[in-house]
Amino acid sequence: MRLHLSLIAVSLALVLSGCKKDTSLLSCADELSEGVRPFARERDQRFLGKVQQNTANCRGGARAVARRDVPWLDWGNYFATGGPGTRSRLFTRNLRGINGALIDLEYERVELIKFNLFDNSGTYPRYASSDSGKDGRGLKVWPEMRLPRSHPDYADVGGDAARQRCKGELIRARTLTGICNDMDNPLMGSAGTLFARNVEFETTFPDAGLNKYARNRHGGRISLMTPDPQVVSRKLFTRAQSDSSACNDGLGKPGYAKDANCDYKKAPFFNVLAAFWIQFMTHDWFSHMEEGQNGPKLVKMGCASQKVNGLERALSPEEISRLGCRPGDEIDQTLVADSTSPTPYKRAGDMDYLPRSPRTFRNTNTAWWDASQIYGFDQRSRARVKRDPKDPARLLMVVLRGATTAGDKQGYLATLESGDPMNPVWAGQEATAFPDNWTIGMSFYHNVFAREHNQFVDHFRRQAAQTPDGDSGLRDPANPTRVIRYRDVTPDELFEVARLVVAAEIAKIHTIEWTTQLLYNEPLFRGMNSNWSGLFGEKLGVSKALGYVVDKLRSSEDPNQASTWYSILASGPGIFGIGSTGADPNGGVNHFGSPFNFPEEFITVYRLHALVPDLIEFRDAHQPDAIRNKIPVIETFRGKATGFMRERGLANWALSMGRQRLGLLALQNHPRFLQNVPMGRIRSATQRIDVAALDILRDREHGVPRFNEFRRQYGLRQLTSFDDFIDQRLPSDSPERADQVELVEKIREVYGTHVCDSTKVITIAQRGPEGEPITDCLGHRNGSTVDNVEDLDAVVGWLAETTRPHGFAISETQFVVFILNASRRLYSDRFFTSSFRPAFYSTLGVDWVNNNGPTRMVEDREINGHDDLPVSPLKRVLLRTIPELEPELKRVVDAFDPWARDRGEYYSLAWRPRPGAEADEAFPRAK
Ligand code: HEM
Repeated sequence: MRLHLSLIAVSLALVLSGCKKDTSLLSCADELSEGVRPFARERDQRFLGKVQQNTANCRGGARAVARRDVPWLDWGNYFATGGPGTRSRLFTRNLRGINGALIDLEYERVELIKFNLFDNSGTYPRYASSDSGKDGRGLKVWPEMRLPRSHPDYADVGGDAARQRCKGELIRARTLTGICNDMDNPLMGSAGTLFARNVEFETTFPDAGLNKYARNRHGGRISLMTPDPQVVSRKLFTRAQSDSSACNDGLGKPGYAKDANCDYKKAPFFNVLAAFWIQFMTHDWFSHMEEGQNGPKLVKMGCASQKVNGLERALSPEEISRLGCRPGDEIDQTLVADSTSPTPYKRAGDMDYLPRSPRTFRNTNTAWWDASQIYGFDQRSRARVKRDPKDPARLLMVVLRGATTAGDKQGYLATLESGDPMNPVWAGQEATAFPDNWTIGMSFYHNVFAREHNQFVDHFRRQAAQTPDGDSGLRDPANPTRVIRYRDVTPDELFEVARLVVAAEIAKIHTIEWTTQLLYNEPLFRGMNSNWSGLFGEKLGVSKALGYVVDKLRSSEDPNQASTWYSILASGPGIFGIGSTGADPNGGVNHFGSPFNFPEEFITVYRLHALVPDLIEFRDAHQPDAIRNKIPVIETFRGKATGFMRERGLANWALSMGRQRLGLLALQNHPRFLQNVPMGRIRSATQRIDVAALDILRDREHGVPRFNEFRRQYGLRQLTSFDDFIDQRLPSDSPERADQVELVEKIREVYGTHVCDSTKVITIAQRGPEGEPITDCLGHRNGSTVDNVEDLDAVVGWLAETTRPHGFAISETQFVVFILNASRRLYSDRFFTSSFRPAFYSTLGVDWVNNNGPTRMVEDREINGHDDLPVSPLKRVLLRTIPELEPELKRVVDAFDPWARDRGEYYSLAWRPRPGAEADEAFPRAK
């Protein structure tokens, strides 16, 4: 720990030097003399993202000091962490601000790794124990992660030997079901394993009141149906319309007329491609459903009651009609893996603990970032993946009659045929492994990456034709010294190499292109790039040296120290490729003592339906500035996407979604069409569902803690009133503030208030400002009326957050969930760490991932103060798969920033056309 403190001290001292005019410097000196904050030893001593006055002053001056008195994170107020106006003329100030933010983020990550890992599969009691002087967080192999006797590969991994170990064909590439990613824990992350949790098991299923704190927290006020999910949706999620006939509940106008309009709150710096990108990602990472179905029983979806003067009362027919909800909506219940009561256990004379959550659920997908939405996650889904009979290394693409452009000549995905295994509602869709909730957005990405797969295969084939006896770089682990020549590589092997490459490209796009635009500011740009290629870039030898230290830490005997250090120092060389030069292809993974799978809470923060607009502003690449049609997203649902894609073409869809802004993640901003989705498979009175209401219902079925405890569990400061949602940075007379005040009133109407009892302690995860226990009164006087902040559904809470760091399309509550899980899914994956090497990817494959394609390309301009930046990876993919877009893409820096927007100066969020796109109809006309 001492080394770490001195590292931070040295970096601060360096930043301090050489600037005499800077008044905030004095605070930096004071901060140093106070010493650096230690990492929390106990859950209730966490950092909370809040710094001392001196620290705030040093890193952000008076502005940062003035803004400390809110529950929200402090670092967004530091120098240079926002837009152009936050940069100082004093270079050292900017450095202090940005580095200060990165230090805060690192504290959060370390404490998240320390306090938020809760595996459901039986390993938790050992992880949490330090009984015999052995810290459970040092465990690297778990019996629960062995293949069971019934598994077809049981014998191949060693059967009932003391230690199972994957070898041979099971380790050469990503396996279909995701087994053998970690060679010592064959089952980990494979399809059908249990979702984990990031919160203490006792805080899950808050309506069940699993301990006295949970019971005190909610006072019997909540249940699966209270507050009513459809009432929450209609009052808090519905997009207001200035002209409801122009929107027509998201159905637009006949002939897709362009004068249709559905109002939505727009994010100026993030486009519709970004919305569908994240849906495409979630289809890779997780699913609670099997083949688009849940359990056999149906449950009602609400539209039954609302709070009136704090009391739940049945809705009258008039109220139902005013709200527009449907009492007849029903949905199939979520699938449950295990609902038997877990037996509590004692920890060394301590209180009782649960060894797992009272109900568990399976991730029916592989948890790995393995492009399983394209390539499959079990036999059934793989059977939908069509390969080219002429070259089975390629995916089957159909070149349509009359194809003229270079992109269209690469073809479109074939469609599902009657003999293919599928849910009948998918008939007519393009053939792919994960076909659920399909619209034009999914059709877009699946076509793009199928083309990209074939681009890589074709390039490999060209290389093989030129140098058939050359070394491909691939090796068979059963015979690692034998060189595999290009000519020896079989179509099946090449198919799997291409899958590895495509999956890694996708992970790279997500990490350094999507996320840096989602969190559009300098600290996050540096943070995400350091996750990928290291804090010090590729240029400095220091990365290599740190890589060596990290390798040593992985085998450290002191897991507590090693975990802390490992996660900090891994930002040095970067997580990607860690351990890839060592002898052991499995040596680079780190699970921090708890087997990897996504937690339920991760799914919660990806319920991002508000991103989707109701209508797509359709354009034609020949006249990019004009909006030709407004096409309802729901018109492209399921099989209907195929016709839209083929008739209108990938290039036009790319342009349309690339130029249009997506929906802000905010209250009252859900697409109208998603509140009225047809669900023919459900035998209910309406055969429709409100997906926004379903988001609430599913989280309750999965036992996600409500918002305030959710924040405490993740090391964020609690709220004490709904008024905390009002952004204090806004002038008191601004219209935005007035809107927020009105929304807070609506939240209060839906969730209510109660008279508090200060004898009831409600949590052990956090303490009040003076170290006192937190009670039902949340710091207010005993017997006063307090908001039911504890009851707020997590999704409602994070959508209500308006105080966000600059350029954040998501809220800070969602963000902490990402900090933990986004790095973990890299740390835990052998193919992103020690097996990222030519033996698995081929030499061409490693280069393709590192260079974003066959050759390295660098932007010829400075971008937010950085020069020599490689051309971003999705832009490169689009240039290869839709080359006719080259004139448009030339101007694009990040494929997820609206393509016609002028990026302006240093992380500007302004909605202004770039030079050359002044005529674009999406921008207000100059007067
Ligand atoms: C535009 C078309 C979309 C449609 C029609 C759609 C539809 C649905 C439906 C019907 C469900 C409920 C499944 C169930 O629990 O029974 C669902 C779940 C979900 N959706 Fe969407 N969605 C769309 C877009 C998106 C987008 C853009 C995201 C962004 C990440 C997203 C993220 C999710 C997540 C995380 C779940 C939960 C999945 C699970 O529990 O495994 N969806 N969606």
